[in-house]
Amino acid sequence: MIGKLNHVGVATPSIEASVALYRDLLGATEIGEKFSMPEQGVWVCFVTLPNAQIELIEPYGEDSPIHNFLKSNPAGGQHHVCFEVEDIIATRDEMRAKGARILGTGEPRIGAHGVPIIFLHPKDMGGVLVELMETPKHPH
Ligand code: CO
Repeated sequence: MIGKLNHVGVATPSIEASVALYRDLLGATEIGEKFSMPEQGVWVCFVTLPNAQIELIEPYGEDSPIHNFLKSNPAGGQHHVCFEVEDIIATRDEMRAKGARILGTGEPRIGAHGVPIIFLHPKDMGGVLVELMETPKHPH
């Protein structure tokens, strides 16, 4: 059921500052362009590692859901983990049947990778906010 770890979401007050850490301290070389997702209230930037990505997320706009996270974690911190699944609707229905809550309406939305995603309620996942992402059928 659960597939590969796709990325770890890291909230930050400054993507530029975080990029500098991953690039200059850790030596990451594959760092994408920062882009906005206004409807989600976030700026996003992917750091690509050999086996997974780090998704840097910074608040975009006043209503960003990341503001609350940064209020409790002013320096930023680990926000969510994302696992790949083959079929997002089948997975959502299975999660619900097993008693886990899906955040929001439960309808998948298109995430930063351009494929459908859902989030499981952290209270149903041992305190971890889990994103599930439909794996592209033909990954490049
Ligand atoms: Co994510």
